[in-house]
Amino acid sequence: MLNLTQQNWNGQNTPFYFYDLNLLQQTLQAARTEANRYGYHVHYALKANSNEPILKLIQQAGFGADCVSGNEIKQALATGFRADQIVFAGVGKSDAEINFALEHDIFCFNCESMQELEIISELAQQQNKIARIALRINPNVNANTHKYITTGLEENKFGINTWELADVLALLRRLPNLELIGIHFHIGSQITDLVVFEKLSLRVNEIQQWFREQAFNLKHLNVGGGLGVDYHAPEENPIPDFAAYFAIFNEHLAVQPGQVVHFELGRALVAQCGTLLSKVLYIKKGQKKNFAILDAGMTELIRPMLYQAYHKIDNLTSNLPEQVYDVVGPICESSDCFAQNVALPETKRHDLIAIRTAGAYAEVMASNYNLREKAPAIYK
Ligand code: LLP
Repeated sequence: MLNLTQQNWNGQNTPFYFYDLNLLQQTLQAARTEANRYGYHVHYALKANSNEPILKLIQQAGFGADCVSGNEIKQALATGFRADQIVFAGVGKSDAEINFALEHDIFCFNCESMQELEIISELAQQQNKIARIALRINPNVNANTHKYITTGLEENKFGINTWELADVLALLRRLPNLELIGIHFHIGSQITDLVVFEKLSLRVNEIQQWFREQAFNLKHLNVGGGLGVDYHAPEENPIPDFAAYFAIFNEHLAVQPGQVVHFELGRALVAQCGTLLSKVLYIKKGQKKNFAILDAGMTELIRPMLYQAYHKIDNLTSNLPEQVYDVVGPICESSDCFAQNVALPETKRHDLIAIRTAGAYAEVMASNYNLREKAPAIYK
């Protein structure tokens, strides 16, 4: 990981995102090597970070693109991903987005409901096309992660429930403009307990066995993304354990001859290469604790406020003895707090603060609430 210091950044206005492209490349290389071992294909989930320089490296490294909006498809095409490397997922695709994807002949739509299947078929028919589709199936497997980023339970809005599958197949037999090429699963994000992926694999095996019994041959198995990263010790673990991750699927997923396995990793590829840099505006002494008030807030990084997510915070300027702070932003909301009771070297106005592991679901989730300027991104 690049050694960030206050000196590197004198003169740079804060807050800003810093991306370590070297680390990104090492991460991509590690993921690709391990996936190639088993012939697995990885589509990068653009929603985690869709900045151009980052996408470019991911595209050059040979990954496909997992998109969840028409604009993400546009961005992927503009970056150089081929249409046949693009999948379109999401529970609420608009007609305009579907039409755009059909016009560009993307590889596959991951479909989440019967009504969506009917609409894609209708729009494909109008364009005189056959749309390739995969069914996103809700496997009812608990990802043991934060409830806001769990997606594979029946109570979630995502995917088609297994009890609907017979009706779905009956419907597909009536829709000539759709070609079913596979099944798709994604059970949640920031999954660090790999046993969850073993459970997912076993469930996928059962489900595809059922498809075989219905005489449907599936060319593709898409097991989604979700591999977590180490937010607590980013320096020790800058690159996720892709070897262990892919090995779990290799061990437990029953891949049929000729079948291709797809993954949709987002966070694991980009989280560790990003850091949010911010300066201390004020130190405010409270009765019980001190507040370090930063010039970055929930407008730049909302994960701590939205999911109680932990991001490691370092003071890059001070090496004084530690004190305890609530590290907060400038936004007019009590929830605008990055972390409570953080031990930091004694912190003063203008110290440079690094908020780590901010490459995924960070800059992309920024807002201009309070009419704030967008924080720039810097790449090295
Ligand atoms: N495939 C599908 C269908 C997804 O919904 C997602 C993420 C991914 C793949 C990529 O998952 P990953 O490998 O990044 O875990 N904003 C939240 C995370 C939301 C994840 C949404 N779906 C956060 O900041 O933790």
